[in-house]
Amino acid sequence: DSVPLEMHKVRIVQKLNLPPIERRLEAMTEAGFNTFLLKNRDVFMDMLTDSGVNAMSDRQQAAMLEADDSYAGSETYTKLENKIEEIFGKKYFLPTHQGRACENIISQAFVTKGSIVPMNYHFTTTKAHIVLNGGTVEEIFEDEALNITSKHPFKGNMNIAKLKDLIETNGAEKIAFVRLEAGTNLIGGQPFAVENMKEVRKVCDEYGLMLVLDASLLADNLYFIKEREENCKDMSIREITREIADLSDLIYFSARKLGCARGGGICTNNEEIYLKMREYITLYEGFLTYGGMSVREMEAITIGLDETMDENMINQGPQFISYMTDQLLNRGVPVVTPAGGLGCHINAMEFVGHIPQSEYPAGALAAALYIVSGVRGMERGTLSEQRDEDGNETLSQMELVRLAMPRRVFTLSQVKYAVDRIAWLYENRHLISGLKFIDEPNVLRFFFGKLSTT
Ligand code: F0G
Repeated sequence: DSVPLEMHKVRIVQKLNLPPIERRLEAMTEAGFNTFLLKNRDVFMDMLTDSGVNAMSDRQQAAMLEADDSYAGSETYTKLENKIEEIFGKKYFLPTHQGRACENIISQAFVTKGSIVPMNYHFTTTKAHIVLNGGTVEEIFEDEALNITSKHPFKGNMNIAKLKDLIETNGAEKIAFVRLEAGTNLIGGQPFAVENMKEVRKVCDEYGLMLVLDASLLADNLYFIKEREENCKDMSIREITREIADLSDLIYFSARKLGCARGGGICTNNEEIYLKMREYITLYEGFLTYGGMSVREMEAITIGLDETMDENMINQGPQFISYMTDQLLNRGVPVVTPAGGLGCHINAMEFVGHIPQSEYPAGALAAALYIVSGVRGMERGTLSEQRDEDGNETLSQMELVRLAMPRRVFTLSQVKYAVDRIAWLYENRHLISGLKFIDEPNVLRFFFGKLSTT
């Protein structure tokens, strides 16, 4: 087996608790069988997300101490703006408080009633903002994207023929923009290839469309391109990043995945679209030189972006995830392959095949896993979807439990513990029953919804 090697040493630690199983059952019942509603004090390994919980480096911590506080014209902001230009080659930057704030602004600026936004796959908050502005999302992934077990190195690729077809059928004027998501979140952190992005760019040029890159999970995607794409083998991470950036008209990102507590931003070289979005920053985020972030966060993001250009840093997440995925496969547990970025993804559709999709198999598995292990994962299936206009369930194409791997946070022993508990639960999967809502919010229901066992 290949075992990941940590290219860092740990010098600050945080104590963890592993509450007894009786307390875990009680805590899960109090949380309405929704892992979002657990209190962290009841959680042993928090694998809910990699957002806002990655480890910070000594350089990030140090930079936070020299932050320059100012409402307008802060030196810290200028450093961040310059780093964005250095890495992405984009001269206009708009700061936001996090990724979905970028999505709000981009959707308000470019989506109107009847607009269509083609993308390799949707993300929950992205879709919600596009729909809120009267648009619809069209997913044009390769068939392979939904194959749980696959050897395809780039399941995040866009299907070019389907993209052209969609534009021809609806007319280019209906397309608000084309969106590519790096490290495609909801299909298991799967990357796209530079080669594919070049093809998407060609289509955008042919029809005069704007190409928007969601770079929130770009770090993982960069690693996979370097590892798996023949033409990029001899390129540095910086060179690959610039190539991707040059193909994009607009890039936005959540900085919460860079070891920061908050933050995000939008960058472009197009003055017209920059000006169109700029007014929304002051309306929703804050003045142009902080956009809802603290100066400390901006300092940490600047360093975080720099460290993302280091292959020995961005390989940590994918290598731990690959190790966990291989260990689970060895024990017969159904998982998404090839291992992607972000986290290890368990296929709940198969794990708890006895639970119908209407009873949220992935939600039920996430709840059960917490009870048997103290490990907190996240449901990524039907529970994360929204009902249609008639109130019917939108059954998800996949039912996944995501066990996110916060970068440089857990040790290999902790990962082995999680694997052991998941394997035990798999052998005893008949113990798991379905869930039903007892309190169901209308929007992004997975965040606050409460459920009970069926
Ligand atoms: N785009 C992608 C691809 C994301 O993964 C996220 C967040 C966002 C946009 C929104 O960014 O949270 O800063 O507002 N993903 C987190 C996750 C929440 O757990 O997968 P945000």
